[in-house]
Amino acid sequence: MASWLVTGSNRGIGLALCRLLQAQGHSVVALCRTPSAELQKLGVRIEAGIELTSALSLEDLARRLAGVRLDGAILNAGVLEGDDLESFSAESLRRQFEVNALAPLLLARSLLPNLKAGSKLGLITSRMGSIDDNSSGGYYGYRMSKTALNMAGRSLAVDLRPRGIAVAILHPGMVATRMVGFSGCPPEQAASGLLTRLEALTLENSSSFWHANGEELPW
Ligand SMILES: NC(=O)c1ccc[n+]([C@@H]2O[C@H](COP(=O)([O-])OP(=O)(O)OC[C@H]3O[C@@H](n4cnc5c(N)ncnc54)[C@H](OP(=O)(O)O)[C@@H]3O)[C@@H](O)[C@H]2O)c1
Repeated sequence: MASWLVTGSNRGIGLALCRLLQAQGHSVVALCRTPSAELQKLGVRIEAGIELTSALSLEDLARRLAGVRLDGAILNAGVLEGDDLESFSAESLRRQFEVNALAPLLLARSLLPNLKAGSKLGLITSRMGSIDDNSSGGYYGYRMSKTALNMAGRSLAVDLRPRGIAVAILHPGMVATRMVGFSGCPPEQAASGLLTRLEALTLENSSSFWHANGEELPW
């Protein structure tokens, strides 16, 4: 039995990850702003009231998690605000950077006292953050923030290697959640693929950019 922390746990892919981890016999620390009825039904440890863009929230969380050992953390929470060249705004770009890039990096650093040699860090990014893969344009805020997250993941992998902590940069696929109007594969399928990738994660392949289906993605 391992202990895993999951952000964005109240719905979508995060909820499916919590459900599957629990079904596999692991203990789960589920982070969210407001717990959903589905999350509460799981009976896992819930740390609610955590706004990931708030420094005060992260300090509060560090106090709540003092002494808690984590075998893994999946930083999954994110936002997508669709835009194009005509419609993007600086405010929207900033909001997406805050949630998708800055918050996971700051949380990863504040979780270091809870992680140990052998622990794993999964960053849920998007293929839309791949520069090589971008042939359709648009989505400035989302794409740029996920590209920044990918770079943070690469630096984290380098910096955490001496501590024995491996980092995976993971695209869940197109998944039927509120973020994308509920079109795509079931969240359970994405969660299963993501956990398989995290099982396969080692210090040797740390910093890989993987699709949940196992495909290695271009940067
Ligand atoms: N669905 C897809 O097809 C797809 C594809 C590629 C990548 N992804 C990535 O997968 C991850 C999960 O997305 P999803 O599809 O499950 O979307 P979702 O259903 O919209 O869930 C997003 C989660 O992030 C949380 N969140 C957003 N902003 C937050 C903040 N400031 N503080 C704390 N929590 C916050 C939300 O909490 P609230 O309920 O409180 O808002 C919610 O739990 C995201 O990183 C997303 O970019 C998804």
